[in-house]
Amino acid sequence: MGRLLYDPVWLRTRPLLLAALVVLGGLAVLGAAARASDLPACRYDDLPTVYTGYDDWAQTLVDTIYRVPDDYVPPDLRPVGEAGIGGGGLVRGFVIEDLRQMGAVATAAGASFVVGSGYRSVGSQVATYAMWEAQVGTYWARLATARPGHSEHQLGLALDFQSPGSPQPWLTGDWIASPPGAWLAAHAWEYGFVMSYPAAVSPGETCYKYEPWHYRYVGRATAAIIHQRNVSLRAYLWSFGNDPDSVPAPTPVATPTPVPTPVPTPTPAPTPGPRWTPTPSPRSLAEFASSEPTEVGAVETGLVPPAFGGVALGVSLGLAVVIGRRRTRRRDRRNEPRERA
Ligand code: DAL
Ligand code: ZN
Repeated sequence: MGRLLYDPVWLRTRPLLLAALVVLGGLAVLGAAARASDLPACRYDDLPTVYTGYDDWAQTLVDTIYRVPDDYVPPDLRPVGEAGIGGGGLVRGFVIEDLRQMGAVATAAGASFVVGSGYRSVGSQVATYAMWEAQVGTYWARLATARPGHSEHQLGLALDFQSPGSPQPWLTGDWIASPPGAWLAAHAWEYGFVMSYPAAVSPGETCYKYEPWHYRYVGRATAAIIHQRNVSLRAYLWSFGNDPDSVPAPTPVATPTPVPTPVPTPTPAPTPGPRWTPTPSPRSLAEFASSEPTEVGAVETGLVPPAFGGVALGVSLGLAVVIGRRRTRRRDRRNEPRERA
């Protein structure tokens, strides 16, 4: 078998087998490429996301392209204080127990955290985005904060964590180096949370800058899968029912998002619970300015092994074995009389 596949002389003398292997191998590569380009390149659009039911939360994808409607307000929001977590804000009720356990273990490990921002209404996201846009301009604002309708905070599933008694985490260097930042990066998945915009993947895949403080709840089972595969949440959700090729086309939502107008003195709209007031410091603006503009291009996820490629490879190997065995039997039959003589 090893000789059949790796002996170049043996293969060269069997042009049909060689041609079959080349053709099938090529088809396998093409199949892989077709699947790998599934995650759409980052761009700014206002398409209705596929899953907008409140029970479909685990599959709901919001990114720079896909959004939830303006009337998306989860019906079961509860204060994070019910999980024994400081700071403030709201989160969907089913998140509370895992958040409580995560907070307790982190505190015992000397890595306690508070919540700086939880659920945001569409009005709050309008104000948040407008404030960033007024301060850093449209290009950078779009990399730092979601346009209204596009934020995971609007799902009631995203939490921005910060160190107790410390400034907002984007003002203090790389927050992942802090005790809670490091602890969450290592353990949040065990409690159902994933970092939505990690540094490990290109902004061309997540479509936002690195945010080591922003976690979205996806449930323990899904978080474990994402952790093990080491993929971005966006790539995972796209492969998990948000690809229009794999699900029926969504019904268009009614209200397109009005583009927020930058205002001279933006005032965040009131939200339930303590409010997030993004005030980028000169330091964070300097970080922004020193970064190269991100080229957002097509992203290869490679999440789903191409079924066709697998079949093609299998057929190739099978073909090689069958032809090889037939050759060996023929040669044995020819050789038999001579060996006996
Ligand atoms: N900062 C993230 C992208 C948001 O605004 O939801
Ligand atoms: Zn956030």
